[in-house]
Amino acid sequence: MKEITMEQMVNYAKQYGFIFQGSEIYGGLANTWDYGPLGARLKNNVKDAWRKRFIQERKNAYEMDADILMHPRVWEASGHVGSFSDPLVDCKECKTRHRADNLINDFTHSSKGDAMNEEEMMQFIKENKVPCPNCGKSNFTDIRQFNLMFETQRGVTKDSKNIVYLRPENAQGEYVNFLNVQRSMRAKLPFSIGQIGKAFRNEITPGNFTFRTIEFEQMEYQTFCKKGKDEKLYEYFKEYGKKFYMDLGLPEEKLRFHDHEKLAHYAKAACDIEYQFPFGWGEINGTHNRTDFDLSRHQEYSKVSLEYLDPDTNEKYIPYIIESTYGLDRTVLALLFDAYQEEELEDHTKREVLKLRPFLAPIKVTVLPLVKKYHKEKALEIWEMLSKSFMTNYDETASIGKRYRRADAIGTPWCITVDDETLNNNTVTVRDRDTMEQITLPVDEVVEYIEKRIKF
Ligand code: GAP
Repeated sequence: MKEITMEQMVNYAKQYGFIFQGSEIYGGLANTWDYGPLGARLKNNVKDAWRKRFIQERKNAYEMDADILMHPRVWEASGHVGSFSDPLVDCKECKTRHRADNLINDFTHSSKGDAMNEEEMMQFIKENKVPCPNCGKSNFTDIRQFNLMFETQRGVTKDSKNIVYLRPENAQGEYVNFLNVQRSMRAKLPFSIGQIGKAFRNEITPGNFTFRTIEFEQMEYQTFCKKGKDEKLYEYFKEYGKKFYMDLGLPEEKLRFHDHEKLAHYAKAACDIEYQFPFGWGEINGTHNRTDFDLSRHQEYSKVSLEYLDPDTNEKYIPYIIESTYGLDRTVLALLFDAYQEEELEDHTKREVLKLRPFLAPIKVTVLPLVKKYHKEKALEIWEMLSKSFMTNYDETASIGKRYRRADAIGTPWCITVDDETLNNNTVTVRDRDTMEQITLPVDEVVEYIEKRIKF
């Protein structure tokens, strides 16, 4: 069994239709990637799993779908206009641009840079002659703060009054609708609002494939609670998140918590879940105790009361928020790395196999006529029946062995072979992706057989 490098993953993902470079025929646009047919399905399966765990299976949890564009005052209130920025330096020698904190982290093989302010970072870079990763020299400009929000204009004139932002996080859509959801759902604290949606950040540093992109999708979850209940919920959601990732199939030894020393402008406590990628540990989730910061600021800026009236005690107060946010693209990338294997078989041939848990597999089953000339018609009939229940492929080209390999390489858990037995007895051979074992099943039992095995 061999693990895959980042470069091999990029090639694999392209070859099999998971992920393509964005605007490829124009030479690409840096840090953008397009999901192909299998990637889009995998993403949807992760979203469905998240919805099940976070909305369906939890009491007092509501999903919403707020717009990407919001009133610009939202981002002033949230603090993003003032302080959502990266500390950037330019190399005076080779003119490449870098994040000062990353330069220090890479140089020290630690997260030292995360805990430093601007002055401390500059001093450290100078004193230690931290080198430019591109040319190796140490001759940088001073740090400049670069706001990560994308701006666009409303209407026709390029007037600063018309600026609107592409949201850098989903959370604010959930916050400004806090009372709408609470009242329309007659919800009592604690309750949660979840949202899956795109976010945009003007990231300039290299991205490690889909790990850092300028357009990405988040699955964000905000739990509103009374002050005093926040710390317990914060701990609860850290563990709930880790359990979710393990349920998706990521092994515990490749997951770890990383508590933040330097906190975002809104947080009292923050902890990431990191996954061990081939390039090192990388954040895939963040849990934050945002206190009453966001709702208080929205109340102040909008002049609309965002207080909750506690029906049991008649108290009025602004709730605390525990946020748990999941990067969808990073989750998909971690799942691909984890599931991909190159195996040497007993006969010394090799196979590529994507061992995704069956509920995540983009295609659940492939139907293969053993001999096209004789078995095609019956195979298509079975394909049609199965396609009413699952994403089903039909493959009639090349030898049966090659067709198995193709299905293995994209993670299809079952292959169904249609042969003379099918024509005579209405039975099919079902081959398992992981064990490669085969069993015989009556055609009318196949749907139930698969359904039982793809539950999440
Ligand atoms: N609402 C809080 C928030 O947005 P964050 O830690 O900045 O927190 C949440 O982002 C998650 O979004 C991260 O854990 C990560 O998985 C994902 N994410 C952030 N920036 C990203 C980027 N440039 N590309 C891909 N995913 C990103």
